[in-house]
Amino acid sequence: MRSPLVADQVPSASTTDTARSPQSEPCTLVIYGGSGDLARRKLVPALYNLLLDGVLPSQYAVLGSGRKPLSDEEFRNITREGIKSYSRQELIPNTWDEFQQHLFYVSGAIDDPNSYHQLRARLEQIESQLKLPGNRIFYLAIPPTSFAEACEGLESAGLIRPVDHSGPFSRVIVEKPIGHDLASAQEINTTIGRVFDESQIFRIDHYLGKETVQNLMVIRFANSIFEPIWNHKYIDHVQITVSEAEGVGTRATYYEEAGALRDMVQNHILQLLCLVAMEPPYSLDPGVVRNARIDVLRCLKPIVGKDVERFTVRGQYTQGTIHGVEAPGYRREAGIPPDSTTETYVALKLFVENWRWAGVPFYLRTGKAMTKRASEVAVQFKDIPGILFNANPDEPQAPNVLALRIQPEVGLSLRIVSKVPGSRAKTNPVEMNFKYGEAFQGQSPEAYERLLLDVMAGDASLFMRRDAVEASWAWVTPIIEGWKASGAKWLPEYLAGAWGPVEADRLIETDGRMWRKL
Ligand code: BG6
Repeated sequence: MRSPLVADQVPSASTTDTARSPQSEPCTLVIYGGSGDLARRKLVPALYNLLLDGVLPSQYAVLGSGRKPLSDEEFRNITREGIKSYSRQELIPNTWDEFQQHLFYVSGAIDDPNSYHQLRARLEQIESQLKLPGNRIFYLAIPPTSFAEACEGLESAGLIRPVDHSGPFSRVIVEKPIGHDLASAQEINTTIGRVFDESQIFRIDHYLGKETVQNLMVIRFANSIFEPIWNHKYIDHVQITVSEAEGVGTRATYYEEAGALRDMVQNHILQLLCLVAMEPPYSLDPGVVRNARIDVLRCLKPIVGKDVERFTVRGQYTQGTIHGVEAPGYRREAGIPPDSTTETYVALKLFVENWRWAGVPFYLRTGKAMTKRASEVAVQFKDIPGILFNANPDEPQAPNVLALRIQPEVGLSLRIVSKVPGSRAKTNPVEMNFKYGEAFQGQSPEAYERLLLDVMAGDASLFMRRDAVEASWAWVTPIIEGWKASGAKWLPEYLAGAWGPVEADRLIETDGRMWRKL
């Protein structure tokens, strides 16, 4: 049936609440690593914004826990500073006064069995003081090497309730890295799985909480014009770029072990790929959506043996200039060995081997210390036939490109070819631009806001299931092994502030294509 709306009647505020919006429930969030960066920069500011937006449950508590001895007061001061520096919305004195009464801290080391009993006593006291029902979320913002000890400690102190839909819930949130290869990921998953049921485990990939990333599904499946042409018949190729202008910063120890492939591709970028390439799920049920995403991972053509060299490019930044400021090379960064062969840049060409995507290359690239911070998914459509407006082979017509911008500016643009005004039949590509900020006013919530709210509501759609984490490691691990086998002592270089090594240009240019200029 035809929609009764015509274009100029579509009111800008015409919104549809498509997904079931499960309610977040009163709960206590226990943050292990509570005095650390993640809590201060992301988690507590996210909760504060949820409060300002009126979506935090009316009863809640946050209990930070860490080795550092801190009083509640000191914890509140640290988090206040965190909100002042990192919150999307400003610190409002009245709201802060209310919020801080829900913040607590208990010190304790993960390897100290007693600390779990102290944690339990403190939790029970807070729950009774704030009349909380006993729902608990444990956020493990700690290195994965401590997951096992933390889970076992929580269990032995009787802090984890089995899944029982009638009683209070226990849930756990874990951050990446979940392993450094398939075997270690399986080990971590098994460890957590010994204590928590899979339905209680929320593995965060914060990219899935980003507004445009969620919008990928809406663009594809809430519009009738894209899906019919979203396949190998019409699409020439897809490019996914996640570039960062910052170097390794203070995370040398972690990054040196990880590198760009593990840090960004194994998780964030493969998840973006899944959303671009997945089949329409038959419902928005979390299990169904997650199955549709995993199917893409299972269709990825393995890159093994000689193909590792053909389809992947690693790079490392050298001294350069980023936004006019001198930047050291990676091997000169504090804490990085001078002969490091860790990649700070990676470009890949891959194929999704199914009917929809047969023969369509996906080009992925990501790196640190690049020209600018810019992330997008660009779908380039096939050239029009070489007749009419495309008859001159020396001046081929620019193809249509749909670009979904993830950051810094959130939005999408569609490149189309248009006539240049005037009497001559001259054409030019133009961009139709949609900016989130302008269309919907205000800022989009931070990824962690959405994700924390979903855990409180028990909605796992935007989290990684065990099989997804392992499927993506299963695809990435042979690449890591191939690189290791090559024994390279030197990686292609790019100047800090550049778009990557020339080898990455060659990867795409030998196919007659080019990286997009962002
Ligand atoms: C993290 C990586 O997962 O994502 C970091 O460990 C990276 O190295 C960050 O900088 C990028 O996230 P965002 O949201 O800033 O794009």
